[in-house]
Amino acid sequence: MTAPRMNAAKAIALEQTVAAPNYAPLPVVLESGQGEWLTDVDGRRYLDMMSAYSAVSHGHAHPRLVTKLVEQAQAVAVTSRAYHTAALGPFLQKVVELTGLDRALPASGGAESVETAIKAARRWGYRVKGIAADRAEIVVARGNFHGRSSTIVGFSTEPSYRADFGPFAPGFRHFDFGDIESLAAAIDENTCAVLIEPIQGEAGIVVPPDGFLRAARKLCDERRVLLILDEVQSGLGRTGRWFAFQHEGVRPDGLILGKALGGGLLPVSCFVATNEVMELFEPGSHGSTFGGNPLAAAVGLEALRVIEDEGLVARSAALGAHLVERLRSINSRLIRAVRGRGLWVGVDLDPALASARAVVERMAERGVLTKDTHETVIRFAPPLTIQRAALDWGIDMFIETLREFEPAPVRDTDAAPVLVAARAARKVDAGAAKPTARLMMSAPDFFEVSYRINPWMDPSTWSVSADRLARDARNGWAELKRTYEALGASIEVQRAERGLPDMVFTANAAVVLDRKVMLARFLCPERQGEEGHNRAFFEALCARGLVDTIVAPPQGLYFEGAGDAIWDRSRGLLWTGYGQRSSRAMQDVLAEAYGVATVALELVDPRFYHLDTCFCVLPRGDILWFKAAFSPAGQALVEEFAGRDKLIEASEEDAHHLAVNSVSLGNDVVLCHASERLRAQLRERGYQPHVVSLDSFNRSGGAAYCLTLRLDLSTRPEAQRVAPLVADEAGSALRIAA
Ligand SMILES: Cc1ncc(COP(=O)(O)O)c(C=O)c1O
Repeated sequence: MTAPRMNAAKAIALEQTVAAPNYAPLPVVLESGQGEWLTDVDGRRYLDMMSAYSAVSHGHAHPRLVTKLVEQAQAVAVTSRAYHTAALGPFLQKVVELTGLDRALPASGGAESVETAIKAARRWGYRVKGIAADRAEIVVARGNFHGRSSTIVGFSTEPSYRADFGPFAPGFRHFDFGDIESLAAAIDENTCAVLIEPIQGEAGIVVPPDGFLRAARKLCDERRVLLILDEVQSGLGRTGRWFAFQHEGVRPDGLILGKALGGGLLPVSCFVATNEVMELFEPGSHGSTFGGNPLAAAVGLEALRVIEDEGLVARSAALGAHLVERLRSINSRLIRAVRGRGLWVGVDLDPALASARAVVERMAERGVLTKDTHETVIRFAPPLTIQRAALDWGIDMFIETLREFEPAPVRDTDAAPVLVAARAARKVDAGAAKPTARLMMSAPDFFEVSYRINPWMDPSTWSVSADRLARDARNGWAELKRTYEALGASIEVQRAERGLPDMVFTANAAVVLDRKVMLARFLCPERQGEEGHNRAFFEALCARGLVDTIVAPPQGLYFEGAGDAIWDRSRGLLWTGYGQRSSRAMQDVLAEAYGVATVALELVDPRFYHLDTCFCVLPRGDILWFKAAFSPAGQALVEEFAGRDKLIEASEEDAHHLAVNSVSLGNDVVLCHASERLRAQLRERGYQPHVVSLDSFNRSGGAAYCLTLRLDLSTRPEAQRVAPLVADEAGSALRIAA
């Protein structure tokens, strides 16, 4: 009997419930694989351009490897190193032959062998070089990635790998990758080893300058230091040579292998070194229960033989050259750099135009699996067995995806150049092209409820664990972003900052109208730290030509951005909120800055502390609001200026869940909560509601509008205004306050 098939949504939901949330997988649920192709639970095929970070260099389910796995498992799989086995010797013999080194020490995951290398290097430092006890140091590169053990992340320079995992082991010193002078400066009499990746993989496939490894080898010899190379990812043909060090004709003293060594079937790694280093391990000094077990050894040996027999190293060199050439010949403003060796290439994208994650997600929708790294780089590392036609198809899909993100050409106008729509509209339903929108969102990475500045932060209303809240925030935010993107929006993502948990509420960062940014000035000291980051982000947008000017409110006034300044295009009116977070006088400042009419509304219910929590303008001039949040004068102004027939009144329940706080993209309305009644009301008026549930994040204040800032609002009048406004006698903007 075959097991019932798992539905994709269920599989994702289950994983999100029971798996530790330390990964953010693409929404693809894989079920089987053959060669370079993977199939999901719905039978959709994907080209694997990732190979599980090089672990699947042989392709999925390579027949020779699967046969060997089954044969050996049926014979004997695990014995421990308490006994000899017939499988281990031949495997390690092949490893030392290929590497030109003397002995190997097997383990399972790659990080385990990095740990072996660290121990070996320190022993060598004390016992051979004569470094004083406990003073040995290992020099590592900035931007390194060697795995995730606590010692290893302790010498990572990536803050997110380290945060709150300390205290870390001492004994590591950094240099700038690829800079031989920096390396020379980092070495001293206590240095036992230099540990580097010949090409930095996780850092974004960073290739050092030609000659760097050679110079590093020379330096290590002169200063009596071991050169240890981590080729967990770069080794075994990935770069078009068996090992990346061969590109420079050097030989390391120690070498770490992993990933592809297990043939895509098992975790197999090893540390390989000279006798001088390896003979410092005596029985009992190091070990690993699963290291070198007969199953791993048999599959590892077969994996090496397959690379040899199928000419996979040469194949990687040839197809890799083809891949790089095709990628370099793409004429796209999105691409900043293409770098790599063999079938291991990183394409660095301009984050001003597209996030690597968004491109990777869109490629998955087209049936190509790749992976982003460090926000801007997309990596291509297909199985070395990939067919050329499949590779070409994958590249074609990449080119088509880039086209979707390509900005329209810059037009010359009498004034400043205007960058029009961010990317071509995507067909969403029934072939109807949706308009594009440019939005800004701030990543939720450090969201938490750590202080109480509004009633939503009352634990009795959101009471879940901090971890659950953080996970719901991350998942909900990502889903919201995907929803916007599926509706044709392009999104500028602002990085999160530790210690600024509310940055995710991006609508408060500023209001942007006609490419002019009015920055926020926060009333609550807890949020004031966001101001500098917001300013820097908008300055970067300005430098990239996405906005023209940035202004700040006059001293002494408070203003919480688009949360309290809602543009109503159909009425040519800016609605402002005051009384809780923003100063009433901001009405005049905004009217002056944008030359528009303003209506200021007083907010009187502490639960609705920003205008956007209780007032939202829909594209056809309808206004969704929660009337009780406003003073009687404010209510009267809304009714007068909106026209009663245009008002949709939210229920207490909808308002409580911030349903009013919605974002409209054309007639699609994205909300994070909506009762059946509200959905029906929206549909009746010609809108299509899209509800993205944020779970506990909603209860702690998260909703669509407050997590989003529109960057592309314009005061240019529409052909038909609902209620035309007249300028006052002085010709300046009309200002009305409740
Ligand atoms: C260069 C390098 N070293 C070590 C590791 C750690 O390997 P593992 O995840 O198998 O522990 C990796 C994994 O990506 C790697 O790329």
